Amino acid sequence: MLKIEELLHVAKESALIAGKILLEGYGTSFKIMNKEGKNNLVTEYDFKAEKAIIENIKKYYPDHIFLAEESGKTGTNTETVRWIIDPLDGTVNFAHSMPIFSVSIAAEYQGEILCGVIYQPVLNELFYASKGNGAFMNDIKISVSENPDFESAFLVTGFPYNVNTNPHNCIDHFVSIIQRGIPIRRLGSAAVDMAYVACGRFDGFWEINLNPWDVAAGIIIVEEAGGKVTQYDLEKYKIFDDSILVTNGLIHNIISVDLMNSSCKRCNDD
Ligand code: IPD
Ligand code: CA
Ligand code: CA
Repeated sequence: MLKIEELLHVAKESALIAGKILLEGYGTSFKIMNKEGKNNLVTEYDFKAEKAIIENIKKYYPDHIFLAEESGKTGTNTETVRWIIDPLDGTVNFAHSMPIFSVSIAAEYQGEILCGVIYQPVLNELFYASKGNGAFMNDIKISVSENPDFESAFLVTGFPYNVNTNPHNCIDHFVSIIQRGIPIRRLGSAAVDMAYVACGRFDGFWEINLNPWDVAAGIIIVEEAGGKVTQYDLEKYKIFDDSILVTNGLIHNIISVDLMNSSCKRCNDD
Protein backbone atom coordinates (compact mmCIF):
# COMPACT_ATOMS: atom_id res chain seq x y z
CA MET A 1 0.00 0.00 0.00
CA LEU A 2 1.49 3.35 -1.06
CA LYS A 3 1.47 6.08 1.51
CA ILE A 4 1.59 9.37 -0.36
CA GLU A 5 2.49 11.41 2.72
CA GLU A 6 5.46 9.13 3.32
CA LEU A 7 6.62 9.53 -0.30
CA LEU A 8 6.30 13.29 0.09
CA HIS A 9 8.32 13.23 3.29
CA VAL A 10 11.14 11.32 1.54
CA ALA A 11 10.98 13.68 -1.47
CA LYS A 12 11.28 16.73 0.79
CA GLU A 13 14.10 15.24 2.83
CA SER A 14 16.00 14.30 -0.34
CA ALA A 15 15.53 17.77 -1.85
CA LEU A 16 16.89 19.40 1.32
CA ILE A 17 19.92 17.08 1.29
CA ALA A 18 20.60 17.94 -2.36
CA GLY A 19 20.05 21.65 -1.70
CA LYS A 20 22.68 21.58 1.04
CA ILE A 21 25.18 19.98 -1.35
CA LEU A 22 24.44 22.60 -4.02
CA LEU A 23 24.93 25.43 -1.55
CA GLU A 24 28.31 23.98 -0.56
CA GLY A 25 29.38 24.25 -4.20
CA TYR A 26 27.58 27.47 -5.11
CA GLY A 27 30.01 30.32 -5.80
CA THR A 28 33.11 28.12 -5.49
CA SER A 29 35.24 26.90 -8.37
CA PHE A 30 34.16 23.49 -9.60
CA LYS A 31 34.31 21.27 -12.65
CA ILE A 32 32.02 22.32 -15.53
CA MET A 33 31.48 20.08 -18.55
CA ASN A 34 29.47 20.43 -21.77
CA LYS A 35 26.57 18.18 -22.76
CA GLU A 36 24.82 17.91 -26.12
CA GLY A 37 23.78 21.32 -27.46
CA LYS A 38 25.42 24.70 -27.21
CA ASN A 39 26.18 25.92 -23.68
CA ASN A 40 24.34 22.96 -22.17
CA LEU A 41 26.44 22.63 -19.03
CA VAL A 42 26.75 20.05 -16.32
CA THR A 43 28.83 20.46 -13.17
CA GLU A 44 30.25 18.07 -10.61
CA TYR A 45 27.46 19.28 -8.30
CA ASP A 46 24.73 18.02 -10.63
CA PHE A 47 26.22 14.53 -10.15
CA LYS A 48 26.84 14.88 -6.41
CA ALA A 49 23.31 16.09 -5.74
CA GLU A 50 21.73 13.37 -7.88
CA LYS A 51 23.73 10.63 -6.20
CA ALA A 52 22.70 11.86 -2.75
CA ILE A 53 19.01 12.04 -3.72
CA ILE A 54 18.95 8.50 -5.13
CA GLU A 55 20.87 7.09 -2.17
CA ASN A 56 18.46 8.70 0.27
CA ILE A 57 15.35 7.45 -1.54
CA LYS A 58 16.81 3.94 -1.80
CA LYS A 59 17.28 3.84 1.97
CA TYR A 60 13.50 3.97 2.30
CA TYR A 61 12.49 2.24 -0.93
CA PRO A 62 15.15 -0.18 -2.23
CA ASP A 63 12.86 -1.52 -4.98
CA HIS A 64 11.70 1.79 -6.47
CA ILE A 65 12.90 2.85 -9.92
CA PHE A 66 14.36 6.14 -11.18
CA LEU A 67 14.39 8.49 -14.12
CA ALA A 68 17.07 11.04 -13.29
CA GLU A 69 18.71 13.59 -15.57
CA GLU A 70 22.33 12.54 -15.11
CA SER A 71 22.04 8.78 -14.53
CA GLY A 72 19.01 8.12 -16.75
CA LYS A 73 16.76 5.14 -16.06
CA THR A 74 17.55 2.75 -13.21
CA GLY A 75 15.51 -0.28 -12.22
CA THR A 76 13.12 -2.38 -14.24
CA ASN A 77 10.12 -2.99 -12.00
CA THR A 78 7.34 -1.05 -13.71
CA GLU A 79 4.87 -2.14 -11.02
CA THR A 80 6.42 0.21 -8.52
CA VAL A 81 6.99 3.93 -7.94
CA ARG A 82 9.22 5.81 -10.34
CA TRP A 83 11.10 8.81 -9.01
CA ILE A 84 11.70 11.57 -11.56
CA ILE A 85 14.63 13.73 -10.58
CA ASP A 86 16.40 16.86 -11.72
CA PRO A 87 19.14 17.33 -9.13
CA LEU A 88 20.00 20.82 -10.35
CA ASP A 89 17.55 22.66 -12.55
CA GLY A 90 19.23 25.85 -13.69
CA THR A 91 22.77 24.52 -14.15
CA VAL A 92 23.81 27.43 -16.36
CA ASN A 93 22.78 29.86 -13.61
CA PHE A 94 24.60 27.78 -10.98
CA ALA A 95 27.75 27.66 -13.12
CA HIS A 96 27.72 31.47 -13.31
CA SER A 97 26.98 31.98 -9.59
CA MET A 98 23.44 33.15 -10.33
CA PRO A 99 21.23 32.26 -7.37
CA ILE A 100 18.24 30.99 -9.39
CA PHE A 101 18.36 27.19 -9.46
CA SER A 102 16.44 24.35 -7.86
CA VAL A 103 16.13 20.67 -7.05
CA SER A 104 13.09 18.94 -8.54
CA ILE A 105 11.81 15.54 -7.37
CA ALA A 106 8.53 13.77 -8.17
CA ALA A 107 7.14 10.34 -7.38
CA GLU A 108 5.01 8.77 -10.10
CA TYR A 109 3.01 5.55 -10.01
CA GLN A 110 1.50 3.99 -13.13
CA GLY A 111 1.60 7.25 -15.04
CA GLU A 112 0.16 9.37 -12.23
CA ILE A 113 2.29 11.91 -10.36
CA LEU A 114 1.62 11.35 -6.67
CA CYS A 115 3.74 14.08 -5.16
CA GLY A 116 6.38 16.62 -6.10
CA VAL A 117 8.92 18.91 -4.47
CA ILE A 118 10.85 21.89 -5.86
CA TYR A 119 13.49 23.36 -3.59
CA GLN A 120 15.25 26.63 -4.19
CA PRO A 121 18.20 26.44 -1.77
CA VAL A 122 19.46 30.04 -1.95
CA LEU A 123 16.07 31.40 -0.85
CA ASN A 124 15.32 28.33 1.27
CA GLU A 125 11.94 28.00 -0.46
CA LEU A 126 10.50 24.49 -0.43
CA PHE A 127 7.49 24.07 -2.73
CA TYR A 128 5.58 20.81 -2.52
CA ALA A 129 2.28 19.09 -3.21
CA SER A 130 0.70 15.68 -3.05
CA LYS A 131 -2.36 14.39 -4.86
CA GLY A 132 -5.54 15.89 -3.41
CA ASN A 133 -3.84 17.69 -0.55
CA GLY A 134 -3.10 21.16 -1.94
CA ALA A 135 0.21 22.89 -2.61
CA PHE A 136 2.52 24.55 -0.12
CA MET A 137 5.64 26.68 0.15
CA ASN A 138 7.52 26.29 3.45
CA ASP A 139 4.29 24.89 4.98
CA ILE A 140 2.13 27.81 3.88
CA LYS A 141 -0.68 26.92 1.47
CA ILE A 142 -0.17 28.50 -1.94
CA SER A 143 -2.47 29.14 -4.87
CA VAL A 144 -2.18 30.51 -8.36
CA SER A 145 -2.90 34.17 -9.12
CA GLU A 146 -6.44 35.43 -9.72
CA ASN A 147 -5.54 37.65 -12.66
CA PRO A 148 -7.91 36.98 -15.57
CA ASP A 149 -6.38 39.66 -17.80
CA PHE A 150 -3.74 38.61 -20.35
CA GLU A 151 -2.77 42.23 -21.10
CA SER A 152 -1.68 42.82 -17.49
CA ALA A 153 -0.21 39.35 -16.99
CA PHE A 154 3.33 38.67 -15.70
CA LEU A 155 4.82 35.79 -17.65
CA VAL A 156 7.92 33.62 -17.83
CA THR A 157 9.38 31.36 -20.51
CA GLY A 158 12.55 29.50 -21.43
CA PHE A 159 14.43 28.40 -24.53
CA PRO A 160 15.85 24.97 -25.41
CA TYR A 161 19.64 24.43 -25.48
CA ASN A 162 19.47 23.80 -29.23
CA VAL A 163 17.76 27.14 -29.83
CA ASN A 164 20.41 28.02 -32.43
CA THR A 165 19.57 25.01 -34.62
CA ASN A 166 16.01 24.14 -33.63
CA PRO A 167 13.49 25.66 -36.06
CA HIS A 168 10.88 25.47 -33.29
CA ASN A 169 12.85 27.73 -31.05
CA CYS A 170 10.15 29.65 -29.18
CA ILE A 171 11.48 33.00 -30.32
CA ASP A 172 8.35 33.69 -32.37
CA HIS A 173 6.22 33.15 -29.28
CA PHE A 174 8.37 35.40 -27.22
CA VAL A 175 8.31 38.18 -29.83
CA SER A 176 4.58 37.88 -30.40
CA ILE A 177 3.76 38.36 -26.71
CA ILE A 178 6.49 40.83 -25.74
CA GLN A 179 5.46 43.07 -28.66
CA ARG A 180 2.09 43.53 -26.98
CA GLY A 181 3.90 45.16 -24.07
CA ILE A 182 3.34 42.19 -21.74
CA PRO A 183 6.30 41.60 -19.38
CA ILE A 184 8.10 38.26 -19.81
CA ARG A 185 10.98 36.96 -17.71
CA ARG A 186 13.51 34.18 -18.46
CA LEU A 187 14.78 32.84 -15.15
CA GLY A 188 16.67 29.75 -16.37
CA SER A 189 15.02 27.07 -14.23
CA ALA A 190 11.78 25.59 -15.56
CA ALA A 191 11.04 24.08 -12.15
CA VAL A 192 11.32 27.50 -10.50
CA ASP A 193 9.17 28.99 -13.28
CA MET A 194 6.42 26.46 -12.50
CA ALA A 195 6.73 26.86 -8.72
CA TYR A 196 6.34 30.60 -9.21
CA VAL A 197 3.16 30.12 -11.24
CA ALA A 198 1.88 27.87 -8.44
CA CYS A 199 2.38 30.54 -5.79
CA GLY A 200 1.02 33.38 -7.92
CA ARG A 201 4.25 35.25 -8.66
CA PHE A 202 3.78 34.58 -12.36
CA ASP A 203 0.44 34.22 -14.17
CA GLY A 204 1.79 31.90 -16.86
CA PHE A 205 4.74 29.96 -18.30
CA TRP A 206 5.42 28.14 -21.57
CA GLU A 207 8.36 26.32 -23.11
CA ILE A 208 9.18 23.59 -25.64
CA ASN A 209 11.44 20.52 -25.52
CA LEU A 210 11.55 20.18 -21.75
CA ASN A 211 12.28 16.81 -20.20
CA PRO A 212 10.21 14.87 -17.64
CA TRP A 213 12.63 15.80 -14.83
CA ASP A 214 12.17 19.52 -15.56
CA VAL A 215 8.39 19.42 -15.15
CA ALA A 216 7.15 16.36 -13.21
CA ALA A 217 7.19 17.99 -9.76
CA GLY A 218 5.99 21.31 -11.17
CA ILE A 219 2.89 19.75 -12.71
CA ILE A 220 1.44 18.46 -9.46
CA ILE A 221 2.44 21.61 -7.55
CA VAL A 222 0.71 23.86 -10.10
CA GLU A 223 -2.39 21.66 -10.37
CA GLU A 224 -2.75 21.35 -6.60
CA ALA A 225 -2.39 25.15 -6.39
CA GLY A 226 -5.41 25.48 -8.70
CA GLY A 227 -3.53 26.09 -11.96
CA LYS A 228 -3.69 24.44 -15.34
CA VAL A 229 -1.08 22.47 -17.33
CA THR A 230 -1.59 21.47 -20.99
CA GLN A 231 0.24 21.36 -24.29
CA TYR A 232 0.11 24.58 -26.33
CA ASP A 233 -2.94 23.28 -28.20
CA LEU A 234 -4.78 22.57 -24.91
CA GLU A 235 -4.35 18.81 -25.22
CA LYS A 236 -3.60 16.99 -21.96
CA TYR A 237 0.10 17.27 -21.08
CA LYS A 238 2.08 14.09 -20.46
CA ILE A 239 5.69 14.29 -19.27
CA PHE A 240 7.24 13.36 -22.63
CA ASP A 241 5.24 15.90 -24.66
CA ASP A 242 7.00 18.67 -26.62
CA SER A 243 5.21 21.81 -25.55
CA ILE A 244 4.00 22.87 -22.14
CA LEU A 245 1.68 25.70 -21.15
CA VAL A 246 1.22 26.40 -17.45
CA THR A 247 -1.06 29.14 -16.13
CA ASN A 248 -3.41 30.26 -13.39
CA GLY A 249 -6.19 28.74 -15.53
CA LEU A 250 -7.81 32.11 -16.22
CA ILE A 251 -5.48 33.25 -19.01
CA HIS A 252 -4.84 29.75 -20.34
CA ASN A 253 -7.00 29.80 -23.46
CA ILE A 254 -5.89 33.22 -24.60
CA ILE A 255 -2.19 32.34 -24.30
CA SER A 256 -2.85 29.09 -26.13
CA VAL A 257 -4.40 31.02 -29.03
CA ASP A 258 -1.38 33.30 -29.17
CA LEU A 259 1.11 30.42 -29.06
CA MET A 260 -0.77 28.48 -31.72
CA ASN A 261 -0.94 31.53 -33.98
CA SER A 262 2.75 32.32 -33.80
CA SER A 263 4.79 30.15 -36.13
CA CYS A 264 6.18 27.76 -33.51
CA LYS A 265 2.83 25.96 -33.59
CA ARG A 266 4.74 23.61 -35.90
CA CYS A 267 6.36 22.06 -32.85
CA ASN A 268 3.03 20.41 -32.11
CA ASP A 269 2.61 19.17 -35.65
CA ASP A 270 5.65 16.96 -36.05
C1 IPD B 1 17.07 23.71 -18.06
C2 IPD B 1 16.30 24.77 -17.33
C3 IPD B 1 15.96 25.94 -18.25
C4 IPD B 1 15.23 25.47 -19.48
C5 IPD B 1 16.01 24.37 -20.18
C6 IPD B 1 16.26 23.21 -19.21
P1 IPD B 1 18.91 22.29 -16.65
O1 IPD B 1 17.39 22.62 -17.20
O2 IPD B 1 15.11 24.26 -16.79
O3 IPD B 1 15.14 26.89 -17.61
O4 IPD B 1 15.05 26.57 -20.34
O5 IPD B 1 15.28 23.94 -21.30
O6 IPD B 1 16.91 22.17 -19.86
O7 IPD B 1 19.72 21.91 -17.84
O8 IPD B 1 19.40 23.51 -16.00
O9 IPD B 1 18.65 21.16 -15.73
CA1 CA C 1 16.39 20.81 -15.97
CA1 CA D 1 19.52 19.56 -14.47
